[in-house]
Amino acid sequence: MNMLRAAAELALAAPSIFNTQPWTWVVHPDRLLLRADRQRQLPAVDPSGRLLTISCGVALHHAVVALAPAAAEVRLMPDPADPDVLASLRLRPDRPPDDSALALRAAIKRRRTDRRAFARVPVSTDTVDALIAACEQQQAHLHVLAWHQTSQFALAAVRAGALQLSDPDYRAELADWTHRPPWSGDGVPASTTVPAIPRRVPVRDFAPFGGASLPPGIDNDLGASYAVIYTNVDGVRAWLRAGMALSAVLLTATAAGLGSAPISDVTETFPTRTLMDDMLPAGCAQVALRVGHPAPGEPPATPRRVPAEVISEATDPR
Ligand SMILES: Cc1cc2nc3c(=O)[nH]c(=O)nc-3n(C[C@H](O)[C@H](O)[C@H](O)COP(=O)(O)O)c2cc1C
Repeated sequence: MNMLRAAAELALAAPSIFNTQPWTWVVHPDRLLLRADRQRQLPAVDPSGRLLTISCGVALHHAVVALAPAAAEVRLMPDPADPDVLASLRLRPDRPPDDSALALRAAIKRRRTDRRAFARVPVSTDTVDALIAACEQQQAHLHVLAWHQTSQFALAAVRAGALQLSDPDYRAELADWTHRPPWSGDGVPASTTVPAIPRRVPVRDFAPFGGASLPPGIDNDLGASYAVIYTNVDGVRAWLRAGMALSAVLLTATAAGLGSAPISDVTETFPTRTLMDDMLPAGCAQVALRVGHPAPGEPPATPRRVPAEVISEATDPR
């Protein structure tokens, strides 16, 4: 199979907000184009399309990693006439192999969003340093929360949950994306969501109507590390960079044997995103995450769309 097409197929495994998978790929003979799929934007959760764009950035970085060890060149927003073309990706055989991406490739299929509480064992400082470096390599920053900052983070999570669950539009969107028909290959199944237990920072309640069926873990996230991906400025390019960084951090954590879970509810309401910004040394909070040593076993895989729905060949193969 064509290498570019194969990379787009492996990038189907990328995580996305509510597992909307809001992108399409167009395969040209010499490049891949990544397009935003606006029909999959979440109007209540994500009116600006920020989380859609971050999700597309995650898929973009997954495709770069999928091409490894071949080096790839990424251009963001390559078509000034069409802002929904978010990126182009081409192979650069003239460049040295991308060994850092190669180390992450096997992690693509293994990674899962693990909403269970992580164990008491802390994440080693070497691994935390590797996560920070992976994020910086994508031109975004990772602020790892100090222990005393987790209470402010928890407050933001509780507030975001209360604000969102009191909004009927949010509840309708949540119900829609947690009750998708099996053939859709998208959404967040109840089998991957956990009932509420006491933990350092509550995770998003995906099943306020009941039904969360994954055992929630036992150690209350005592050893978990919480971190925020942030950018110097806000805007579409920064969102794409934040998504690429989220992918790099999640895959690096998976390669190190850790569990991980993105956390974006705290950035989805204005008051809580402000609280998040206040915790940073500078810049704009884009998405948070939790990493740690997972409970035994692994969460079930979440469905994905079929390649035919997401990937097409260019009709004008220039
Ligand atoms: C931008 C973004 C935001 C996300 N926000 C959350 C969140 O707030 N809470 C959560 O539990 N999962 C969150 N996720 C994880 C998705 O729900 C998850 O990727 C999706 O359901 C697919 O499952 P998988 O990651 O196990 O493949 C987010 C993922 C992305 C990329």
